[in-house]
Amino acid sequence: MCGIVGYIGPREAYPIIITGLKRQEYRGYDSTGVALINHHLQVYKKKGKVAELEESLIGKAVSAHIGIGHTRWATHGEPSDRNAHPHTSASGKLAMIHNGIIENYGQLKQELLNKGYKFSSETDTEVLLNFIEEIKNNNKCSLEEAIRIALKRVAGAYVILLLDADNPDTIIAARKGSPLVIGIGKGEHFLGSDATPMLEYTKEVVYVNDYEVAIVKADELILKNLGNERQTPYITKLDMELAAIEKGGYEHFMLKEIFEQPHTIYDCLRGRLDAKEGTITMKGVQDNIEQLTNASRIIIVACGTSWHAGLIAEYVIEELCRIPVEVEYASEFRYRNPIVNKGDVIIAISQSGETADTLVAIEKAKENGAIIFGIVNVVGSSIARISHAGAYTHAGPEIGVASTKAFTAQLVVLIMMALKIAKEKDTISEEYYSKLLFELEDVPEKVASLLKNADELKIIAKKYKNSNDALFLGRGYNFPVALEGALKLKEISYIHAEGYPAAEMKHGPIALVDEKLPVVFVATKDAYHAKIISNIQEIKARKGKVIAIISEGDEIIPSMADDVFAVPLADEIIAPIISVIPLQLLSYYMGVAKGCDVDKPRNLAKSVTVE
Ligand code: M6R
Repeated sequence: MCGIVGYIGPREAYPIIITGLKRQEYRGYDSTGVALINHHLQVYKKKGKVAELEESLIGKAVSAHIGIGHTRWATHGEPSDRNAHPHTSASGKLAMIHNGIIENYGQLKQELLNKGYKFSSETDTEVLLNFIEEIKNNNKCSLEEAIRIALKRVAGAYVILLLDADNPDTIIAARKGSPLVIGIGKGEHFLGSDATPMLEYTKEVVYVNDYEVAIVKADELILKNLGNERQTPYITKLDMELAAIEKGGYEHFMLKEIFEQPHTIYDCLRGRLDAKEGTITMKGVQDNIEQLTNASRIIIVACGTSWHAGLIAEYVIEELCRIPVEVEYASEFRYRNPIVNKGDVIIAISQSGETADTLVAIEKAKENGAIIFGIVNVVGSSIARISHAGAYTHAGPEIGVASTKAFTAQLVVLIMMALKIAKEKDTISEEYYSKLLFELEDVPEKVASLLKNADELKIIAKKYKNSNDALFLGRGYNFPVALEGALKLKEISYIHAEGYPAAEMKHGPIALVDEKLPVVFVATKDAYHAKIISNIQEIKARKGKVIAIISEGDEIIPSMADDVFAVPLADEIIAPIISVIPLQLLSYYMGVAKGCDVDKPRNLAKSVTVE
């Protein structure tokens, strides 16, 4: 993980870097640092968030026109001042920041220790930097050449940015496996893990490819591969506005993103779904419709919340398309010897498009000849680029570490995809197809309507905020929603929570139930309604506290639950898009009530670019 920022040009580098780092704190916030060159190399770094470093530098001479900055999610070495980036080389002339993991750093470190090197941190970054400097000195070559030689020996994932005190007009960057975006301005360049640090300055960006080295000057960008051959930078136009990454009056990004959902769901449907015409336009699906309809099996790979979207898709695709679906944790799929047959289609789901485990799982499936369909939120991200085809979720930048609007947009894309395949395969009736299209069109309005009652969840959250544990239960399409609700609560409020299929509860978790345990039922009206009512009774009989998410008009559950929140009625296939939102709000309000940092929960990072 970690966020990296760089600037070179006529403007003051420091404020651009600090602002850019704040926008990238979602990638990690264990420590922060900047390196600037103004006559000499200056490095400032500190454990803690960007604001703490900024505070400590008030009054310091930080004027410079070239600089790099880093916000860290610790991998090698605890969060501390000395493990913070940038690291400086033994000569003190080079400074480097790094996102990723150097897997063979132990071996490289030993080689350097044998040569008498000393290290002041526990990081793999300091090892790689000194390895580069050692090559530079030993081979009497340029820094650029030394980087190329060093990277041929490196195993792992990285984006590195280097400053050289002897060459104050150049930043050198390289990438493999971790994201690097370079913004092209007039006589200036911006570097970032994503495009957010450069949004107000340029809309022209280059997404650097794996194994490329970028030599970045104010007025020139040279890209080379590790064989020293020039590569043509491919310039992309950014389709993102500054407002999209600001809080817009909300207390937290998470709340803003929850409340954005009527719009993000609408944006996801816009231009694709036409209920009156009975059409769904998705180019990526259409271009591969034969492979998709004839797929002998669909394997979904994803992590975290995206994996939960995959579980719901499993139910939907099997129901509508009659194609067998398996949902895999990307981290498990990549390390076992999975059976991927010709005719299998892989769907990779990822908000960031940079999750390391999902990326490697895709590569593994590709080696076995599978077609990869990527469902990604971040335009131009690595997963979007290595997939054969795909569909963007168009949820806009998601800054809060907890995924909210990206999840509902993933569901919308997956349901539309399933409907399109089912229509093509003729595995859905005209009537049901049309009903679901109209229902999908209504979702933004239904979400807007339930959000009006968000304060009811604030009251419920206050009541249960001191709980140590919580159980989330659901059946059918709402079972993965229960899993997602439990994940949200854990992440945001640090309350231990578990999600289970409601019927599975009596096979073990029911032992946890006592008068203190809140049990959240996702109990909207569907084929299992009568069954879930029985499960609620089972919890009440053991004095558990029941919080139920119900459909409007339900008159039975309110009479037995301790607290209820009603959502607009929807078909069971569409319901998860709606029923998950009260759970997002519940965990948000619990987190706030407990005083947690909901946008940046402890130990987490938004974009998990390490294994
Ligand atoms: O960017 P991705 O969708 O690939 O990320 C996957 C998970 O890391 C992510 O969903 C994580 O679980 C979130 N923090 C959940 O809120």
